[in-house]
Amino acid sequence: MTGSNPWTSKVETLSWYARRPQLYREFIRRVAGFRVSSTRQAERDERLRREVRSWCEGVLVDASKALGALGIDPNIPTVAELFPNEWGYAERSVAACPFKMGGPADVDLLFHLTRSLPAETVVETGVANGWSSLAILLALNERGNGRLVSIDMPYAKNPHDQWVGCAVPAYARTRWELIRLPDRDALPRKLEELGTIDMFHYDSDKSYRGRRFGYEQAWAHLRPNGLLVSDDIEDNFAFRDFAESVGLPPVVVKKSVKAGNFAGLLRRPP
Ligand SMILES: C[S@@+](CC[C@H](N)C(=O)[O-])C[C@H]1O[C@@H](n2cnc3c(N)ncnc32)[C@H](O)[C@@H]1O
Repeated sequence: MTGSNPWTSKVETLSWYARRPQLYREFIRRVAGFRVSSTRQAERDERLRREVRSWCEGVLVDASKALGALGIDPNIPTVAELFPNEWGYAERSVAACPFKMGGPADVDLLFHLTRSLPAETVVETGVANGWSSLAILLALNERGNGRLVSIDMPYAKNPHDQWVGCAVPAYARTRWELIRLPDRDALPRKLEELGTIDMFHYDSDKSYRGRRFGYEQAWAHLRPNGLLVSDDIEDNFAFRDFAESVGLPPVVVKKSVKAGNFAGLLRRPP
């Protein structure tokens, strides 16, 4: 059966990349970052994850307190309550998706941050089914201005592509630009073109280096009082180290959608 043999799968991946010259650089980056899996490596990874989680728990603040500090009323309804039709559409679309794509970011947090900042120019990395894109676009559409640029690289081999962003209804796509390239190829160019952005949401390459690259790129383009939001910061110490490097105390909150996972926020000083 195709794909059941790991070598068949590797050959398929190779030929998938070979047919896409625009992804050659990403292929080389992936080969360069490849680590042979071993029991020892798995143990090291697990130890690191425990350390990062324990750091997150140590600096954690209550989400309502974090929102309050940003001037946002913490007693706010959820996106599902505010937009039952759009939420229903997203749930049905994602349920129809035959593949498991990346899990959702903190939709309520993103909606309220976009709405209250207020954020007009928003950039995000990592779309998958598009829950985070939906949240940001609903806030922009409600206000009637702004735009969202989302970056997500093509999925190797599988026909996932048509499902990228499927949670976003057609009417909400007018303020949306979806770029199907790796972060490293799309992000610097797009940020340069945009100049200044109000908010950045990171939810793509979970590696330490990938995160540091995304944070650093976006930070340089974030306006004063702009916000950097990062999903699932418990993967490694990239968020903590980046906060240290810019000399700011990290704001860490528990994600409302996935118990045990954390989101990080950094506000650029005025
Ligand atoms: C966790 S999912 C994103 C979930 C989404 N934010 C949501 O709320 O539904 C991560 C996505 O990042 C994308 N991704 C991973 N590495 C990437 C890279 N180097 N460049 C661009 N996209 C990448 C994957 O294709 C995947 O769709």
